[in-house]
Amino acid sequence: MASTHGNYSAYYARRTQSRTALFPHSLFPHAAVLDVGSNVGHITAYIAQHLAPRIITGVDIDQSLVDAAWRHRLTAWSLASPHTTPDYFPASLPHELGPLPIPPSDDKHAFPHNLAFRCADWTKEDIPEDKDGYDIVLAYVLSITKWIHLNQGDDGLVAFFRKIHTVLHKHGHLILEPQPWESYAKARRMSEHLRATYQTLQLRPSNFSTTLKDIGFEFVKTLGETGEGGFRRSIDLYVKR
Ligand SMILES: C[S@@+](CC[C@H](N)C(=O)[O-])C[C@H]1O[C@@H](n2cnc3c(N)ncnc32)[C@H](O)[C@@H]1O
Repeated sequence: MASTHGNYSAYYARRTQSRTALFPHSLFPHAAVLDVGSNVGHITAYIAQHLAPRIITGVDIDQSLVDAAWRHRLTAWSLASPHTTPDYFPASLPHELGPLPIPPSDDKHAFPHNLAFRCADWTKEDIPEDKDGYDIVLAYVLSITKWIHLNQGDDGLVAFFRKIHTVLHKHGHLILEPQPWESYAKARRMSEHLRATYQTLQLRPSNFSTTLKDIGFEFVKTLGETGEGGFRRSIDLYVKR
């Protein structure tokens, strides 16, 4: 699949730790979490393994990234100690000997049973977990807003924010990392469709908080900023009123 949805596989490993350090860790234990645009699953797996959500589902539009995310789940499991200490064994071990099988467990909320991935264009298709709703949506939307905005225009992005509002439980949280407007100029060059949509955009990332407020979110705070240069972004926390 061409990378016109931001579906680069090398994207994320670089940025996982600096970003997860900013998350409000106390929100995650026992929560049902959705990671939209989960890419190769590093952040999703980190949360499943370190922050004890009841269940976390990563959804991505690109099947090859979803396949890589399932493989990453197996690797993360293989590196954990028998008492589930993460990264206990060296990465060379599963690389040379193959991954460890995941045994069945009665505790479906323990890692890695609390972690699953799905392939879908989440702006247009529902996934089974949507039915029960979520306590937290990562709309990494971490670094996904630009791609939905450029592919589907202002209306598509607003519909995406509305869908997040719908699937969140009352007082559920949205963690949002919008890309800055300046980064759109380069991205639009990737296709004629993105270029044409770019010309129609009225909404700006600096106004997303107003749009989200109109939909029914309250801005809680900026959790911090990560990245260098063009990757410098703030991560914002919202709550569903
Ligand atoms: C730039 S990457 C960000 C990855 C990750 N969320 C992060 O912040 O590190 C954007 C991801 O969103 C996915 N994506 C884009 N549009 C999507 C959609 N409509 N539904 C699901 N995933 C989508 C892409 O395939 C890509 O993996």
